[in-house]
Amino acid sequence: MPQSCRVVVLISGNGSNLQAVIDGCDDNLQAEVVGVISNNPDAYGLVRAHHSEIDTSCVIARPGESRSDYDARLLAAIEQYQPDLIVLAGFMRILTNDFVNHYLGRMINIHPSLLPKFTGLNTHQRAIDAKETEHGASVHFVTPELDAGPVVLQAKVPVYEDDTAEMLAARVHEQEHAIYPLVVKWFSHQRLNMQDGQAYLDGTLIGPSGYAPD
Ligand code: GAR
Repeated sequence: MPQSCRVVVLISGNGSNLQAVIDGCDDNLQAEVVGVISNNPDAYGLVRAHHSEIDTSCVIARPGESRSDYDARLLAAIEQYQPDLIVLAGFMRILTNDFVNHYLGRMINIHPSLLPKFTGLNTHQRAIDAKETEHGASVHFVTPELDAGPVVLQAKVPVYEDDTAEMLAARVHEQEHAIYPLVVKWFSHQRLNMQDGQAYLDGTLIGPSGYAPD
């Protein structure tokens, strides 16, 4: 890896995690967000990138376009930036296996649940409906199976009896903003890697609940 880890962030919306990663990179001289790509031209994250003078691209799905054609265009847009790490930050598209395999071990995602619980959408409401007392967020390497790659780091929050999905989401978001920049930092310092479908920090296998689950 070159001296500074070149990070490309993929977004679809607000981009609060993008902001946390940008802010984290300001304090981490070994990583730099060199590009932000959105599938949604109205994503507020694009405005955040402009404020930080980071280059942006939009890759908007064409009517009737296949996933593989879209992902080929996405890959070309990403490759312009010659990235070392791809950070999915609320990028709300399912990626093809070819795309995922291209970036295997170099692409991470943040998901708003304590994986393997609540893969997919509406995780906060589902956690409330399931009467969970604990919920949270997970950062994981991306592998072809949706939301199933090896977990690197999780953050837990309590679920209170009178929580709404919005209240719980806000609590989880705050934790996401703490853990995502940390994982980017570990990767950029070459402390984190994936081998044979498992995540390692400083050469030590990370358990299923992420680093230091307690
Ligand atoms: C975050 O909560 C992230 O965990 C979630 O989207 C939100 C994006 O917020 N990602 C997924 O649900 C992916 N399956 P942000 O745009 O403010 O960072």
